[in-house]
Amino acid sequence: MDTTVNLTGAQNELQQISRRAFQPLAGVRAKTPSKPAEAEAPQVPIYLSETYDWAYLNPRNVRLLDRELVVATILWGNHNRLRQSAFEEIRPGQQVLQSSCVYGDFSPALARHVGSKGRLQVFDVAPIQVEGCRRKLKDFPQATVRLADAAEPSGEFYDAVCCYFLIHEVPADYKRKIIDTLLGSVVPGGKVVFVDYHKPHFAHPLKVVTSVVFDTLEPFAKELWHNEIAEYANAPGGFVWRKQTYFGGLFQKVTACRPTTS
Ligand SMILES: C[S@@+](CC[C@H](N)C(=O)[O-])C[C@H]1O[C@@H](n2cnc3c(N)ncnc32)[C@H](O)[C@@H]1O
Repeated sequence: MDTTVNLTGAQNELQQISRRAFQPLAGVRAKTPSKPAEAEAPQVPIYLSETYDWAYLNPRNVRLLDRELVVATILWGNHNRLRQSAFEEIRPGQQVLQSSCVYGDFSPALARHVGSKGRLQVFDVAPIQVEGCRRKLKDFPQATVRLADAAEPSGEFYDAVCCYFLIHEVPADYKRKIIDTLLGSVVPGGKVVFVDYHKPHFAHPLKVVTSVVFDTLEPFAKELWHNEIAEYANAPGGFVWRKQTYFGGLFQKVTACRPTTS
């Protein structure tokens, strides 16, 4: 069963504080630079090289894994539905940031969705992922891919940010940095869309196997079983949060919308 929850309560109490924090951004319009800033190339974070080298950095494995079928299998057949759900939050013609690469044809599909009047900027912190994504997007002039760490503010502002299955892969301090950075990069009226893992229902038939996979391969993923994505934000009250769960609670879409008026 899929459920939708509005995350209000205590977060609303923080609203006034964080609205003040984001005040200087009022009136800012989505803007992405025309030239990539790769001069200041980021370091590959330690969690990535130590934990996920086999999945995202090893050239032979990257070639093997970068397929729709792989993503569909990992997500127990829910990839198309989750992707569609993320895209529903983004309107054609918008300036959009995809905070990291995704295997398969996610980025071309998002570029198509954004359309020729929109703009898609993809970030990834791994050079091999940037190269692969650039190849996939070569026929989409509205899309560019840049070597960048999603945890580092870029100084750019977007109408929408799409963060697809990145948060569960990073340690808690990085979760905080990435979430705050992404929240800080949307214009008033814009939103950040997180699609990621979530704690499955008590009797979910895949709970045990997912737990074993996480304990073996994804050491930071279970943090999302115990914490809401909004809880990692420094000032969650400046946003209107909405959560929807899918596939017996195993997955979630969380949208954080920045109000137009402060
Ligand atoms: C989005 S996540 C996983 C998505 C999904 N499991 C898939 O099929 O690809 C994987 C990507 O995140 C990138 N990544 C990890 N940490 C990052 C960071 N701090 N900033 C930008 N990209 C990051 C990795 O290099 C990798 O390409």
